[in-house]
Amino acid sequence: MEIILRPIGVIHSPFTEKESTPIQSVRSQAIGWVEVYPEFADGLMDIEELSHIHLLYLFHQSSRYKLHVKPFLDDREHGIFATRYPYRPNQIGLSTVRLLSRQENRLTISGVDVLDLTPLLDIKPYVPDFDIRTEDVRSGWYETRSKK
Ligand SMILES: C[S@@+](CC[C@H](N)C(=O)[O-])C[C@H]1O[C@@H](n2cnc3c(N)ncnc32)[C@H](O)[C@@H]1O
Repeated sequence: MEIILRPIGVIHSPFTEKESTPIQSVRSQAIGWVEVYPEFADGLMDIEELSHIHLLYLFHQSSRYKLHVKPFLDDREHGIFATRYPYRPNQIGLSTVRLLSRQENRLTISGVDVLDLTPLLDIKPYVPDFDIRTEDVRSGWYETRSKK
């Protein structure tokens, strides 16, 4: 089965080189903005009430994938699905960013960890009741990673 996805917008970022892009939004103070294409802008109703949103997007500058990778935070190899590394079969990225403001179809965000002009696939609300797990959480290799 092949799936064809249609971007709903584009993420504008100060970063144009992978090497200088933060590796996670929680470690980034960078400001950027999300442009939602006009035909989807009506779906933004009430979004300004949220402090944080999840962005799902395409790692459009990753043309290949690897099933084993050495992620940014470790010197050991791990399976791609046990990492957040960008070289994935379906190139889908997920960043939870702070929503600073909305001007019509434009969302100003902070915590940017993507390249400029990254195609946006979806936006979802960050809801602590749904998204935070505190009991019996294990982070696997991240707990013994070689880099902080
Ligand atoms: C480790 S990934 C994590 C991204 C996201 N927070 C996640 O967990 O899916 C972040 C890195 O992906 C790379 N990257 C960011 N945007 C990209 C894009 N549009 N295409 C390819 N690589 C990208 C940069 O090297 C960046 O430092």
